[in-house]
Amino acid sequence: MRFPPGFLWGASTSAFQIEGHTTADGRGPSIWDTFSATPGSVLNGDTGEPGADHYTRYPEDVALMGELGIGAYRFSIAWPRIMPDGRGPVNRAGIDFYDRLVDAVLEAGIDPWATLYHWDLPQALEDAGGWPERDTAYRFAEYAAVMRDALGDRVSCWTTLNEPWCAAFLGYAGGIHAPGRREPAASLAACHHLLLGHGLATAVLREGQGAGTARRVGLVLNPTTLRPNSPTPADLAATRRADGVRNRVIDDPLFRGTYPEDVREDLREITDFAFLRDGDLAVTSAPVDLVGVNFYTPHWIAASDAGLDPATVTGGGDSTSYVGCDDVRFVLRGLPRTGIGWEVDPTGLYDVLTRLSDTARVPLYVIENGAAYPDEVAEDGAVHDPERIAYFDSHLRAVREAMKAGVPMAGYFAWSLLDNFEWAFGYSQRFGLVHVDYETQTRRIKDSGHWYARVARTGELPR
Ligand code: FCB
Repeated sequence: MRFPPGFLWGASTSAFQIEGHTTADGRGPSIWDTFSATPGSVLNGDTGEPGADHYTRYPEDVALMGELGIGAYRFSIAWPRIMPDGRGPVNRAGIDFYDRLVDAVLEAGIDPWATLYHWDLPQALEDAGGWPERDTAYRFAEYAAVMRDALGDRVSCWTTLNEPWCAAFLGYAGGIHAPGRREPAASLAACHHLLLGHGLATAVLREGQGAGTARRVGLVLNPTTLRPNSPTPADLAATRRADGVRNRVIDDPLFRGTYPEDVREDLREITDFAFLRDGDLAVTSAPVDLVGVNFYTPHWIAASDAGLDPATVTGGGDSTSYVGCDDVRFVLRGLPRTGIGWEVDPTGLYDVLTRLSDTARVPLYVIENGAAYPDEVAEDGAVHDPERIAYFDSHLRAVREAMKAGVPMAGYFAWSLLDNFEWAFGYSQRFGLVHVDYETQTRRIKDSGHWYARVARTGELPR
């Protein structure tokens, strides 16, 4: 199983999950600082401290990237390091950190890919209403301009947002991510303003395109495959509804410049879409150069609990985050599950890629894919994680199949370079190619990291 020459191999991280040092050098608080400090929000009361102490250990982490032989490193920039209040004066020390990081990555011969927003909204902007407020989109574009001017000469690829679906709906409808609000109507406004912010920022990033730089702009989505648990009309209808508020509510404004009619109808009692103003959809659907796809697991949808074994209900989905779908249930299908409980099914990735490429019509990169397992350092000092290798292998095969079916796949980034703070799961879930001992901050390349290095070097999956 061979990938074509030029296929890009990378690894991804995000600022809040690895940096630590959440009050250093003038960084302001983000919604994740506030949320994680709120009892009951994050498992074991974990917070962004210590993270993987990447803020000071980044040189060591860049050296690890070199050992892994990756061609690109995708990281995110913490907005509250750059603009501690979300607006106004720029904090030079914050910029300096990313300056140093990007230079170190380039020196290692690796392409820096920067994501502007991986969920760490400055708390001051949340205090002013957060993403449900239209103004936040404009503040985001201002921040994008600051980063363009600071790093635009060196970043190979910009992605504006990471997973706007999670930011909007886990954050403002389900309340399981920061800022922990449970306001369905506001979550739809948040989603719209995230996409608007993406469009505004895309224009800003392009304006600054200096002569001779091959800078590209896109965003990172997490579409997933939703399948009816049974072929009954009720399950089919529930699947259509869930797909509307999970996939199409994002994809249509981005790639078709519309909101799906059936979704508007489904949500009639929740929102009148008053947040949508003339001209917005032309902004949200501004052409992008690429789309990053994050994929972990597909879901099976049932119309209700009726007839289901309670032990199989949940399946990793959270129906309160699926606006207007509180009645819908996520069903486990008895497939193998990763440590975080997510079912393993690479056909879900194949389906996501083939579908999205029809809609987006630009090159796609899998920009996050991976698995959490309860890794331990063995007596021989290594971390043996054959299940993670099997996960990567099977999903890479699905990527290759999608390419054979004509999907313009240009690269694959593993999630994640390092073990890190896994949001509501805190430090309990390890996704890294590199193991982190949080007490000592010792790094160890796992077996899967060595395996991935070989794949990146040869472009081939060992049998
Ligand atoms: C994605 C996030 C990423 C990571 C993985 C496991 O939703 O983008 O930060 O937590 O899930």
